[in-house]
Amino acid sequence: MADYWAGRDILSTRDVPREAIEQIWHKAKKYDDAVTHKKSYDKHSGKVLASLFFEPSTRTQFSFQTAMQRLGGSIIAFSDADTTSVSKGETVYDTIRMVESCADVIVIRHSLEGAARLAADAASIPVINGGDGANQHPTQALLDTYTMFQKKGKLDGLTISMIGDLKNGRTIHSLCYALANFDCTIEMWSPPQLKLPQIILNDISEKVKVVELESLDLSNSDVVYATRIQKERFDDPEEAERYSYVIDAESVRKMKDDAIIMHPFPRVDEIATEVDSLPQAAYFAQEANGIPVRMAILDSVLG
Ligand code: NCD
Repeated sequence: MADYWAGRDILSTRDVPREAIEQIWHKAKKYDDAVTHKKSYDKHSGKVLASLFFEPSTRTQFSFQTAMQRLGGSIIAFSDADTTSVSKGETVYDTIRMVESCADVIVIRHSLEGAARLAADAASIPVINGGDGANQHPTQALLDTYTMFQKKGKLDGLTISMIGDLKNGRTIHSLCYALANFDCTIEMWSPPQLKLPQIILNDISEKVKVVELESLDLSNSDVVYATRIQKERFDDPEEAERYSYVIDAESVRKMKDDAIIMHPFPRVDEIATEVDSLPQAAYFAQEANGIPVRMAILDSVLG
């Protein structure tokens, strides 16, 4: 297959085929040096990434910016959306129409579901969704599946347990659609109020085996994917606190020895820090993978 991603907007993982995901993994592998040896490549000099984060971000923003710079390109960004014309009432549409004349590719994060789609409709250059409300975070799913591939060698045959806020977690939504391409089993555990949206469950159940866990029993898991309760999506933030849970060293003892634990970060208190030094903890490697995977994404999109 020719490069699936060339010139594309990346808004969702919903219709992304397996070969396209594998293309990113194989390209990302070649860019692992960017982390292990801080290597830069002279591939896209003169190209500009516009990094528009209207919602808080640490790793998505930094890894996109690092990825562009390691490819020889440069970035334009604001450090606080309140310093842009948005604070004067400018619409996303007008901002994007301006930014497209400055850049070759845009990454946007916004609290509104559909904001990235709106930006893509407005822009004549590729738009990458860095997270739109509780909807989607497609590049996170690419780095999450890359981490599973890197640590386990394959995704087919794995049991992957997604736990936490499955309702509001956009990384969960994107990962579900990406995993539906593989012959794996998805286990789900959440407080009853925070289950995966029915529409996503229906979509993926056609392609992959989904098991809803009654209790937080992770003894069958090859990959535990923990997420935080998305407090900012609740009308009453105190409600969010009622749903907290924790994986500690004792929980890890009940898992398979070769299970891995992932988390998109930021973690609040879902994984006790005592787990960090255990061999199952894969979340720091996972976050580092944001750089080669986003290099692969930008390299492919820029063509
Ligand atoms: C996630 C996000 O922003 O959706 N973080 C990330 O991009 N790595 C997860 C979260 O905020 O819980």
